[in-house]
Amino acid sequence: MTVPADSASDRAALAPDFWESRYQNGTARWDLGQPAPPLVHLFTSPDAPERGRVVVLGSGHGHDAVWLAQQGFEVTGVDFAPAAIAAASRLAAAAQVSVTWLQCDIFDLLPAYEQQFDYVVEHTCFCALAPDLRERYVQLVHQLLKPDGQYIGLFFTHNRPGGPPFGSHPDELRQLFAPHFELRHLARTPHSVSDRLGDEHLGLFDKD
Ligand SMILES: C[S@@+](CC[C@H](N)C(=O)[O-])C[C@H]1O[C@@H](n2cnc3c(N)ncnc32)[C@H](O)[C@@H]1O
Repeated sequence: MTVPADSASDRAALAPDFWESRYQNGTARWDLGQPAPPLVHLFTSPDAPERGRVVVLGSGHGHDAVWLAQQGFEVTGVDFAPAAIAAASRLAAAAQVSVTWLQCDIFDLLPAYEQQFDYVVEHTCFCALAPDLRERYVQLVHQLLKPDGQYIGLFFTHNRPGGPPFGSHPDELRQLFAPHFELRHLARTPHSVSDRLGDEHLGLFDKD
């Protein structure tokens, strides 16, 4: 799944067709078939975020989005791959929950969705983007959130070269978010699925 590491090639290679073909040919190996256990742990803990309006970026087959809707959140799932949105819609229908699905590029959510969400939830979207888009992504998240909003991210912090998934270092995450967010929590999670154990950090960032 590795693509070249220079940024122009990354961005071209990671266009919607790349992801759509992975869904179409059944090689979406990132798909856990369930909501991410570290997110489930957070949202069912005594410190669980209060119910509110959530957007899940790069929502894929919709496991996280549908589960959050089942917990009582008002959820919007965003993905630019048509097959992902179609599968996510079927999942929500089967679960009999209402989720708003948007088939679009996450960077096209603005200005329409500016300050619309209490939470932005991230799970394997940040690592799917060309790394040179990271600062723009942080600005996007900041603009999507309401003034007291919170960003909840499950980050791939492996140190393997290339991607996707492009790894990140916790120090880089701290630096990237510092201009726009107050860091509440960033730590390696013990709740990852077995083949990601040790490679994921859970981060909570409060909008400044
Ligand atoms: C690695 S997959 C993860 C999907 C889902 N979060 C999961 O864990 O199963 C990355 C997803 O982000 C979507 N994606 C990547 N870049 C995107 C962009 N710029 N706008 C919208 N969706 C994007 C892809 O289509 C893909 O479904």
